[in-house]
Amino acid sequence: MSAPTVLVLAAGQGTRMRSATPKVLHELCGRPLVLWPVLAALDAGAGRVVVVDSPARALAEVLEQGVAAGQAHKVALAIQPQSNGTGGAVVAAATEIDPQAAVVVLSGDVPLVSAQAITALLAAHAAAGASATVVTTVLADPSGYGRVMRDGDGHFMRVVETKKPGDATDRELQIREVNTGIYVFQGAALLAVLPRLSADNAQAELYLPQVLDLLRADGHAVAAHAVEDPGLVLGVNDRVALAQVRALAQRAILERHMRAGVGIVDPAATVIDVDVEIGQDTLIEPFTTIRGRTCIGARCTIRHSYLHDCTIEDGATVGPFAYLRPGALLREGSKVGTFVEVKNSDIGPNAKIPHLSYIGDADVGESSNLGAGTITANYDGKAKHRTRIGRRVKGGVDTAFVAPVTVGDDAYTAAGSVITEDIPPGALGVGRSRQENIEGFAQRQKGESRDAVVPEGDQGDSSRA
Ligand code: UD1
Ligand code: MG
Repeated sequence: MSAPTVLVLAAGQGTRMRSATPKVLHELCGRPLVLWPVLAALDAGAGRVVVVDSPARALAEVLEQGVAAGQAHKVALAIQPQSNGTGGAVVAAATEIDPQAAVVVLSGDVPLVSAQAITALLAAHAAAGASATVVTTVLADPSGYGRVMRDGDGHFMRVVETKKPGDATDRELQIREVNTGIYVFQGAALLAVLPRLSADNAQAELYLPQVLDLLRADGHAVAAHAVEDPGLVLGVNDRVALAQVRALAQRAILERHMRAGVGIVDPAATVIDVDVEIGQDTLIEPFTTIRGRTCIGARCTIRHSYLHDCTIEDGATVGPFAYLRPGALLREGSKVGTFVEVKNSDIGPNAKIPHLSYIGDADVGESSNLGAGTITANYDGKAKHRTRIGRRVKGGVDTAFVAPVTVGDDAYTAAGSVITEDIPPGALGVGRSRQENIEGFAQRQKGESRDAVVPEGDQGDSSRA
């Protein structure tokens, strides 16, 4: 049998988000919603993943960026010309359906479906020998979902829609087993009934669950696979639901790291995006946010800091209150300390930038130490320039490096220097005016204040004393 095809239905309008951004492009732990089921499907071994998009093709770009190059050839878009329902979305992808293979249908707004859940569903479908398997679950509050009708023997009968009055009767509304919107079909059976979908319902749309009725009418077996995994069910329809789903996803990400040997002191006070990698025995202290594709080695300490798309090698320490921006690379054993911002810079092994600094577009060599208040002036108003600092350099406090500028190995800078010219290896760069002391200045100040004329009528309370 060929590898399954997975359809991800994502062409709906998502009006309840009240957003100019399509619903499935909203971010969940650093990854757009629609990418979650797509990547889960690829992980589960899908031969082909077809995402159903609206004619604006808003999803093309995130799919290109979010799917690894080696898997990209498996992912395609199908365009649903108008939003005529979940059945219409599957019709739009019909040419992509392999009659010989199983077809899994997922929703772009149900992000927590896992690869394991998809694999288990395919196994249940194969074991049941059915032409279709619908995934169901029992909810305390089933409102808004399609309800699952079973016969006296517990066999699946049909799904009753409930969104619009007129779809379901009061008795049907009492049922708490719901359609999760996740299905597996035998490809040829699905293709055979799709042309017979009708918009004969309260919303005048093509409802995908009608496919199940048509299959049963043709004598096909339809199975209902009941699960308890809330990840298969939790859909994002508005921003409140997005935050609820985020809490679950975040907890799962943190637990995955902790189980792999990462110390997370307070999971409730830690934000880590889904694509972040962290090595063993690294300690993440509270109030830390780690975003994007940040990669952290082993035995690092990260305190109360914000990291985005950066790389930290083994044994480095960060923070408290550091801001590491895209392209920051902290090599082994380096330290970026308190109130330090680093962007697009290579901080060498054991180099230290302990306090109050901005390092942008710079290379800092091994074991160099930059004093408090070091600033790279990397932008001249038109272009960015690089600062190159050699090995074992000792930068005095309050040094400004005006890029482009190069500092040789073992060089020094004097405190308060504005370094506009290269410093040769081993030299001291002094870039400040000499101090001048004005003798007797305080005495002179006193004399001036005694002689100062106090304006009339402005003597205030002192005149009464
Ligand atoms: C659907 C099911 C319902 C089930 C529920 C589970 C139908 C008719 N009803 O209802 O039984 O309990 O999911 O969440 O299928 N989409 C398109 N094109 C469209 C319409 C929708 O691609 O024209 C996509 C949406 O982007 C979304 C998914 O299909 O990702 C589900 O659509 P939605 O409108 O949310 O369906 P529900 O009303 O939730
Ligand atoms: Mg929905």
